[in-house]
Amino acid sequence: MNVYAARREAVAKALGDAVAVIPAAPHATRNADTEYEYRQHSDFYYLTGLNEPEAVLVIAPHKSGERDVLFLRPRDREAEIWTGKRVGVEGAVDDLGFDAAYPIGELAAKLPDYLNGALALHYALGVDEPLDRIILAAVKEARYRVRRGGKAPLSYVEPGTIVHELRLHKTPEELAIMRRAAAATRAGHEAGMRATRPGLWEYELEAIIEYNYRLAGAQDVAYPSIVAGGVNATILHYNTNRDRLYEGQLVLVDSGAELDVYASDVTRTWPVNGRFSAEQRALYDIVLAAQKAGIEQVRPGRSYNAYHEAAVRVLTEGLVDVGLLSGSIDELIETEKHRDFYPHRTGHWIGLDVHDVGRYKDDADEYRPLAPGMVLTVEPGLYVQPDLDVPERWKGIGIRIEDDVLCTSGDPEVITASIPKEAAELEAIVGSGALAPA
Ligand code: GLY
Ligand code: MN
Ligand code: MN
Repeated sequence: MNVYAARREAVAKALGDAVAVIPAAPHATRNADTEYEYRQHSDFYYLTGLNEPEAVLVIAPHKSGERDVLFLRPRDREAEIWTGKRVGVEGAVDDLGFDAAYPIGELAAKLPDYLNGALALHYALGVDEPLDRIILAAVKEARYRVRRGGKAPLSYVEPGTIVHELRLHKTPEELAIMRRAAAATRAGHEAGMRATRPGLWEYELEAIIEYNYRLAGAQDVAYPSIVAGGVNATILHYNTNRDRLYEGQLVLVDSGAELDVYASDVTRTWPVNGRFSAEQRALYDIVLAAQKAGIEQVRPGRSYNAYHEAAVRVLTEGLVDVGLLSGSIDELIETEKHRDFYPHRTGHWIGLDVHDVGRYKDDADEYRPLAPGMVLTVEPGLYVQPDLDVPERWKGIGIRIEDDVLCTSGDPEVITASIPKEAAELEAIVGSGALAPA
């Protein structure tokens, strides 16, 4: 059984007497009649491996013989000449391992058959309005059939919990892809470090990094790269990347490759001229120590919040050491004084989506314990906004260090560990290469 069919089977088991309807991502328009490059919805991809729009997956455990069914675009010679090969109805059964497959145009007529007899319907209302209308019509039809002895769903469930819980726990095969994504990200960041010198533009650095992702086998970036020189690094979601890099600045690069649909998410911050100033180095050392303290907490059984708390403590201690905060550490943490310099949390799940799915808290609203197979980012930072009331020499410094970390049954595995982050390593590599891509 292929990996996608095995996942559908796991979902079917968890659904019990319910039915799930999960659509493919639609095409997204960029402007006028130009579309963005197609990116499949991660849940749909996880369960089908299909990279086509206009498809709907139905998992109906109560329908023996047709438990997993795919509605998709049929083969069409003319259309395929314009937009490429389709898997088609036969391919869905023969190659993707579905019990049954039908042309997408038959969805509205066939859906009531799959709703009939299911106790609940798992479907995300309000995301895809044309599909909502088909679903509502099918529900109406199933209700109508009750009078003739049919059974319509009794409850409607926001989907996600079943698939997202599966996605949260990565298999060895998924981790192998994530390690390849990390290797591509390393190639990009290292090429970027080597090419950095005063006078380079942020977008040139972005291009060098992303070009090297492609050379290393990645198909895309996992999110728009942030390449932020100097004070731009204090804007957390800066990604215009249009400024020049100057002598004496740091550059913050938050960029990760997407490979075979899996994300990596890495931030490194390095000096444009290859040498940290005293203030830059002082803050860099604090962020790096906070990141290492956070990574130490990525262990089975630890609360999801432990790595954030560990990082906040080290950052706060460091801010007191350099005089940017004063007072008792516990009180400063209690009153969240660090938030002037560190307004975000320390990470998130990562996988098919860069901010991956999966709950962070349990039903009692407590952060859940970590378990082997979970992958998260550890990404503390310090950002000295220029309007803060602090000595001039600190202003405009922005630093973040981010790695992707696997919780194992033992020590944490930093999937992106080979990307330089020690200050001395950065000083050695920055500017050491030609401007041209590696
Ligand atoms: N690059 C997005 C993030 O770090 O969460
Ligand atoms: Mn991140
Ligand atoms: Mn990031």
